[in-house]
Amino acid sequence: MKIAILYHSETGNTAKIAEFIAEGAQSVNETDVKTMSLDAIDAEFATQAQCLIFGCPTYAASVSWQMKKFLDTTNLKLADKLGGVFATGDYLGGGTEVAELCMIAGLLVRGMLVYSAGFTRGNPLTHFGAVAIKSGDEPQRERAKIFGQRMAQKAKELFM
Ligand SMILES: Cc1cc2nc3c(=O)[nH]c(=O)nc-3n(C[C@H](O)[C@H](O)[C@H](O)COP(=O)(O)O)c2cc1C
Repeated sequence: MKIAILYHSETGNTAKIAEFIAEGAQSVNETDVKTMSLDAIDAEFATQAQCLIFGCPTYAASVSWQMKKFLDTTNLKLADKLGGVFATGDYLGGGTEVAELCMIAGLLVRGMLVYSAGFTRGNPLTHFGAVAIKSGDEPQRERAKIFGQRMAQKAKELFM
């Protein structure tokens, strides 16, 4: 089960959270997880992946324009695959969830099956996806790992 984590990151915060999500996903048996920056996508791996998780920084209380451009224009086949999102920002209330909803809109338009676990799996509750302030403190990093684990478990349930 291949899981691709695609992120946009200028100063490294989102890239770090991508690694924590990957760690959580990789902790699930039979997963092969790869993180990749939008400017260095392993197209073969991403095409084979049945679960793709997208992350970006919050810009002006919304999705970064680089991620928006990617989701608007990519030729990657995303339809019928499991999708999830995460976002970083500098402060609480700065728009991380708006950034996530914008990514989710892009995934839905591409025909992805969007998942976050919501509150169905108990604590930690995840609503739209994983979020972190900058590169996250320890609890935020732990939540990112759990988010990755839950995404991988759901992908296995659906596709294996
Ligand atoms: C142009 C720009 C706009 C930003 N706007 C917001 C914002 O509206 N809300 C917020 O919380 N952080 C904002 N930030 C901060 C980034 O979202 C935050 O530092 C993020 O973690 C950077 O991710 P990166 O290190 O992966 O590039 C902004 C940063 C930049 C460069």
